[in-house]
Amino acid sequence: MFKQLSEKIAFRLGKTTPLAHSVDIHSHLIPAIDDGVKSLDSSVDIIRQLQALGFKKIITTPHIMSHRFPNTKEIILKGYHRLQKELKKQEINIELEVAAEYYYDEYFLELIKKNEIMSFGEKYVLFELSYTVKPFVLEQSVAKLIALGYKPVLAHPERYNYFSSEKHYRSLKEMGLAFQINAISTQGFYGPRVKKAVEKIIDLGLVDFIGSDIHSQKYFESFARALQSKSYAKLFKKNSIKNNYL
Ligand SMILES: [Fe+2]
Repeated sequence: MFKQLSEKIAFRLGKTTPLAHSVDIHSHLIPAIDDGVKSLDSSVDIIRQLQALGFKKIITTPHIMSHRFPNTKEIILKGYHRLQKELKKQEINIELEVAAEYYYDEYFLELIKKNEIMSFGEKYVLFELSYTVKPFVLEQSVAKLIALGYKPVLAHPERYNYFSSEKHYRSLKEMGLAFQINAISTQGFYGPRVKKAVEKIIDLGLVDFIGSDIHSQKYFESFARALQSKSYAKLFKKNSIKNNYL
C-alpha cells in the first residue's frame, strides 16, 4: 500500500530522486490546536504521504503563541497521544515526536525563566519571531537559553521582513542561533522576497536544519515539489544539514 502511495506521489511529481534527509523537524500536525491540520484524518493522511516520500521520523511542533494559540505542554501532549494511538491503530510505523514552535513573546520569556520549555533532540528549541516587528532583547534571551543548556533554533529566518542582508543573518548566527529554513520558501510559497532571502541563506551556507512547516495538504504538495528541486540539491551541497542526527 505504501509502495502504491509512493508511486502515486512520484507520478504526480514526475521523476523523483531519493531524499537527502529523512527527519522532519517543523510541522503542525497535531489536529485542531493551532492553524495546522484540522482533523485526525487529515493528519494521518499527511503523515502517510510523508512516509511514502521517505520520511522515517517526524518531530511535529504546534504553535505556542499566547495571543493566538495559547497552547500548553498538557494540551500538546494530549493531542500527541491521541495521534500516536491512531497511527498505531492504522499500523503506520513512523517515529513521531512532539515539541513546539514558540513565538518570541513575554510568555516565551517567562517559560525560559521557569525552565519549562519543550525541546527536541539534544535540547533544541524551535522558536519564531514576529514577521514585521524587529524583536527587542533577542540577544539576551538567546544567551539565557544557551546558559540553560538549550540550543535555540530560529524557524524560517528567511520570512522576517526586517532581516535581509548577509550582515543580519551572520549576526543572528553569532548569537548562537541555529537556522531552520522552510523547504517551501524555495518554491515561492511565501512570495518572491522570501524566495530570494532563502536562496541567499542557502548560498551563504548558514542552514542547519530544513523543515516542512506543513499546516495542510497544500503545504505538503509544495514541500514534495521542493524536495525534487535544484534548490534542495544545492542546499545539501553548500550546508551541513543536521536533520538526520535527530
Ligand atoms: Fe511553523
